[in-house]
Amino acid sequence: MTGERLIVTIDGPAGTGKSTVGRALARRLGLEFLDTGAMYRGATAVVLDEGVDASDERAVARAVRRAAMRFDWTTDPPTLLAHGRPMTDRLREPDVAAVISTLAAQAPLREALVAQQRAIARSHPRLVTEGRDQGSVVFPDAAVKFYLTASPRIRARRRAEQLRAAGRPADVDEIERDLARRDRLDAARAVGPLVKPPGAVEVDTSEMTFDEVIDALERLTRQRAPAGALAGARGG
Ligand code: DC
Repeated sequence: MTGERLIVTIDGPAGTGKSTVGRALARRLGLEFLDTGAMYRGATAVVLDEGVDASDERAVARAVRRAAMRFDWTTDPPTLLAHGRPMTDRLREPDVAAVISTLAAQAPLREALVAQQRAIARSHPRLVTEGRDQGSVVFPDAAVKFYLTASPRIRARRRAEQLRAAGRPADVDEIERDLARRDRLDAARAVGPLVKPPGAVEVDTSEMTFDEVIDALERLTRQRAPAGALAGARGG
């Protein structure tokens, strides 16, 4: 991967398609992809699996630092490792989802993960990164920033489809309630709250297919990236 630094941030609430879109956009533009939600999930799994008291914020951040989470960039998408072991299946388990919002509100944990994300960007400087705070806190100087939204009902339907495709039961009403609860917690926290970052382009994906969203983001990124930053990258 050659060329100058180019950071593209994608923020927004759960179920707006950030991971799917971010991965595809990265591939089209010849950039790498960072899923920071996986890091918060991984941190939560570490805390649960090691029996750390989740209310002890310092102990949580210490355990997460000790786990030395990193990505194996040879897989697509990159695989999150903690203590050198792949976390793949653990990240989407229900016990992780149940407490993640509480942990994601803790300042010491967020500081640790923000530092790790910036360190990743130093060694992988051509990056599409997705999360809640990427354009606002972690990479305020990113060249291109997006904020994806979609109506709660549509987001719940998409999540239900993903779960059913993975062979899990899914109730759209229940998922919608859970998404609304997580939105409130993500937006209300004091550190790294979910906001539309200054300078971000807002894209409402409610009535768009994923392909349409990816096309739109590719076009906007090519328009907004500094001259030459994408020269030579594959187009489609
Ligand atoms: O995007 P996701 O659903 O995998 O995110 C999992 C959780 O992590 C979600 O509750 C929001 C939180 N998160 C965060 O607080 N900051 C980020 N940069 C990414 C995710």
